[in-house]
Amino acid sequence: MTRQIIDTDVAIVGAGPAGLMLSHLLDRRGLTSVALDIRTRQQIETTHRAGILEDGPARMLVEQGVSDRILTDGHEHAGVELRFNGEGHRIDFSESVGASVWLYPQTDVFIDLADARRRDAGDVRFGVTDVEVFDIETDRPRVQFTDGDGIDWEIRPRIVVGSDGSRSASRFLIPEARRKQFFHEYPYAWFGILCEAPMSAPELIYANSPHGFALISQRTDSVQRMYFQCDPNEDAASWSDDRIWSQLQSCVAGADGFSLQEGPIIERTVLKFRSFVQEPMRHGRLVLAGDAAHTVPPTGAKGLNLALNDVRVLADVIERTFAKNDYDVLDEYEPMALRRVWRSQNFSYWMSQMMHRTPGDEFASKRQHGELNTITGTAQGRAYFANAYTGWAADPTV
Ligand code: PHB
Repeated sequence: MTRQIIDTDVAIVGAGPAGLMLSHLLDRRGLTSVALDIRTRQQIETTHRAGILEDGPARMLVEQGVSDRILTDGHEHAGVELRFNGEGHRIDFSESVGASVWLYPQTDVFIDLADARRRDAGDVRFGVTDVEVFDIETDRPRVQFTDGDGIDWEIRPRIVVGSDGSRSASRFLIPEARRKQFFHEYPYAWFGILCEAPMSAPELIYANSPHGFALISQRTDSVQRMYFQCDPNEDAASWSDDRIWSQLQSCVAGADGFSLQEGPIIERTVLKFRSFVQEPMRHGRLVLAGDAAHTVPPTGAKGLNLALNDVRVLADVIERTFAKNDYDVLDEYEPMALRRVWRSQNFSYWMSQMMHRTPGDEFASKRQHGELNTITGTAQGRAYFANAYTGWAADPTV
């Protein structure tokens, strides 16, 4: 069987938000790309992920012509509530650091990106199989795949980008002898639900309670997203709706009488917690971006923001690489991307340890209250939190 050949500047393996954003940014620079994904568009659209965009990524999506919907359907949040000892403590981002975040779910970011690529006649192929990358150590890398109609293709790009998510195959193309993987595992996970109910609060609530951690988030006026701390091996199907509501209510209960608006639960999943970074992010003509190179636990919602930051930096580096015809320019990407990666790794780890309970460890919970008091009760603590949560907008070095 002969293969159909496609010549392009960049082959993008993985067409989630990182891959599609990169494809869009390259197009804007007059560079061509082909983006592939083994998942169908529908599969990606129905995978629920976090819902918070930092200032910078939200602005980039709007300014680059990907999403006006953020401004109409998204909700700008100027603060967040940290709840402990049964009391709410609001951190005002605007007052502390003059920034905000946007509640706009990752699935919508993906839909906007996929629509924008289609509008601009971008080459994106979902539902492909047998993706294989060859010759990344030569100056003629190749990517082979079979499309949904069973036709075999070979892409001949100048650069291959691996943006194939947390279960990346691309990251293993970097030889084992060069590859370094940094991990942290956590003794807890999140039980996540979508429910049909009105909003319980106008902003996010992160709660540390004797019953464990809970996060109250929103989606629309009639659909809400909430999470509570659970065992990593918890079986989501074994929980009744009543048991879920009673757990969530006890995590947010307090002297102020706050309680959640309940409704039918339409989705439930257990989200695993893991912090992970792989270095290097470049080998030969292969570059990694997004979850393929690093994953963070969902506390603080940094995952999508990091992926969008990676490709913002990478698009510039690729443009300069081609302009100078010097592939060593690709080495400028990793240090620029990693500064933010490790800051976000630290923030998600730090916020996770501050908010989750270890059953039976009273010293730990009292110490957490000390920390939460410092963060919410001092201007410096609030500024530290607000600055990190909104994405260090004022710091040009990250
Ligand atoms: C969400 O809305 O799904 C969400 C928000 C904030 C997080 C994690 C998830 O830290």
